[in-house]
Amino acid sequence: MPDAAQHASPAAPAFSTVAEGDLTLDDHEAIAAMLARTFEAYDHWYAGARSWAGMQPELRVVARDGDVVVAHAGLRRQFVTVGETDLLVTAVGMVAVSPTAQGTGLGGALLRHVDAALERLGSRFGLLETGEAVQGFYRRAGWLPLGDASEDAVTGHAVTGHAVTGHYTAFSADGAGVLVSQDEGWLIREVGATAAEWPAGDIRWNGQMV
Ligand SMILES: CC(C)(COP(=O)(O)OP(=O)(O)OC[C@H]1O[C@@H](n2cnc3c(N)ncnc32)[C@H](O)[C@@H]1OP(=O)(O)O)[C@@H](O)C(=O)NCCC(=O)NCCS
Repeated sequence: MPDAAQHASPAAPAFSTVAEGDLTLDDHEAIAAMLARTFEAYDHWYAGARSWAGMQPELRVVARDGDVVVAHAGLRRQFVTVGETDLLVTAVGMVAVSPTAQGTGLGGALLRHVDAALERLGSRFGLLETGEAVQGFYRRAGWLPLGDASEDAVTGHAVTGHAVTGHYTAFSADGAGVLVSQDEGWLIREVGATAAEWPAGDIRWNGQMV
């Protein structure tokens, strides 16, 4: 009789959500190695055990295949100024699936775990910035673009009805203190509030993003 284990499909990567303070040095190295593989042009940021590029996260969603990290996202609660309002958001960044595992549904699963982590952290909105090429990935998972609906060729829908620029400090590995202004690619996730409650105006991080 055949051994059932021989016919079992390979185990799916195992997800965990880990507070920053509970990560070991080995964890930081494994995450940094995976981020360097995925963001190849920025691999000098993720040297050794430096598993972040801008603001250090407070919580990680990590998927592992054995000991190898194959997917990752970082989250951190931060106050940002939106127009005239100081708003507590959860910044999401360093969202990545290892190159060999991309296109297999792992990124979608990662964002479902990010949703659970956003609930756990309890701020009313998730916030991230991303390039045009990846926005569709987030929108499929329920993230909403900020900006002018007339500029939104994909859905014709946007949250604010007017252009939104975000201002933040560049990632420090390339030199601290440089202000970057980004006119597009801002997306929010409704956690404890609806998009209608998002204040009007530009976003000022007053620091680095995750
Ligand atoms: C972006 C990334 C995380 C997506 O992970 P992935 O495992 O390849 O994505 P999945 O296979 O789980 O795809 C989930 C869904 O998003 C869609 N999708 C994936 N990448 C997309 C993209 N770039 N644009 C639009 N849709 C995309 C898939 O078609 C799929 O849709 P479906 O559910 O309707 O079938 C991964 O490609 C990656 O790490 N890229 C390099 C790093 C990066 O750009 N990170 C984002 C920085 S902000």
